[in-house]
Amino acid sequence: MTETLTIGTYTDDDTAALRNGFQAHGIAGPDDIAAVDASLRATVRAVAFKGHKSFGAAEMDLLPKLGLIANYGVGYDAIDVAAATARGIKVTNTPDVLNDDVADLAVAMLLMQGRETIQASDWARSGQWAQKGEYRLNRKMSGGKVGILGLGRIGREIANRLVGFKMDIHYHSRQEKQTPGWTWHADPVSLAQSVDFLFVALVGGTATEGYVSRAVIDALGPRGVIVNISRGSTVDEGALLDALESGRIAGAGLDVFRNEPKIDPRFYALPNVVIQPHQGSGTVETRIEMAALQRRNVAAFLAGKALETPVN
Ligand code: 8YV
Repeated sequence: MTETLTIGTYTDDDTAALRNGFQAHGIAGPDDIAAVDASLRATVRAVAFKGHKSFGAAEMDLLPKLGLIANYGVGYDAIDVAAATARGIKVTNTPDVLNDDVADLAVAMLLMQGRETIQASDWARSGQWAQKGEYRLNRKMSGGKVGILGLGRIGREIANRLVGFKMDIHYHSRQEKQTPGWTWHADPVSLAQSVDFLFVALVGGTATEGYVSRAVIDALGPRGVIVNISRGSTVDEGALLDALESGRIAGAGLDVFRNEPKIDPRFYALPNVVIQPHQGSGTVETRIEMAALQRRNVAAFLAGKALETPVN
């Protein structure tokens, strides 16, 4: 009997592990649940969920015995957790195992933006180095003033890395946290006013929708660079594009976008933006760990044991 439904695209190894371990049935996205045969839907107790499409009350109600949604990813903003809780459905995520990779990519994007590594590489590959000489001078990164918006697990890993870059570290979170002397700001505008580089490491969801507002972006100023590895929803993207196009901030490094993967084409015309295809956690090693943690949560639930990383 199929008790587990997998939603999303998994690697061949993960697909095999889900099939062999749970006799799971797989579909591509939450929109496909309705098309699953009703007799099969009636047996599903656990969903292994991957992706960023909305999994809300309507989808849950198509699975009358559903007791667990095991998310593949630390961010679970695609899942309506309140609706799940109201139905007695548990939600789990995959925290911690991806902190290092996401923090690595965040710092890499800042360096890529400031040191113009994509343009400099093109300069060498296209033969301009040999024909015209040295690449143009760019921007010193070490020793800069940096702000972290959201000092959670990933935000802290970003800050830890930037200590090695001798940066003056500021942060904003709802409450002041224990740090090795980093400067806390009670609001995001004050944080942006005090720094040049701003990392967005907030959780996604309605509470942080547009948190990086036009006022925050303007407070950053013309030497400002925004790096976002959280969710596209945390930033007022129209305000960001306006500021990037008009030079009111210097640039951005973005792994996440509103409406990804069909991102706003205005981004493509901006040489001062480093664009990444939401690949923060996308290493072979980390994805193996994320998938394994997701499966451990499914296995624990089906065996009636305590969930390893519950959300609700
Ligand atoms: C995704 C992520 O899970 O963990 C998160 O919150 O955004 C990513 O790791 C990954 O892209 C698979 O959808």
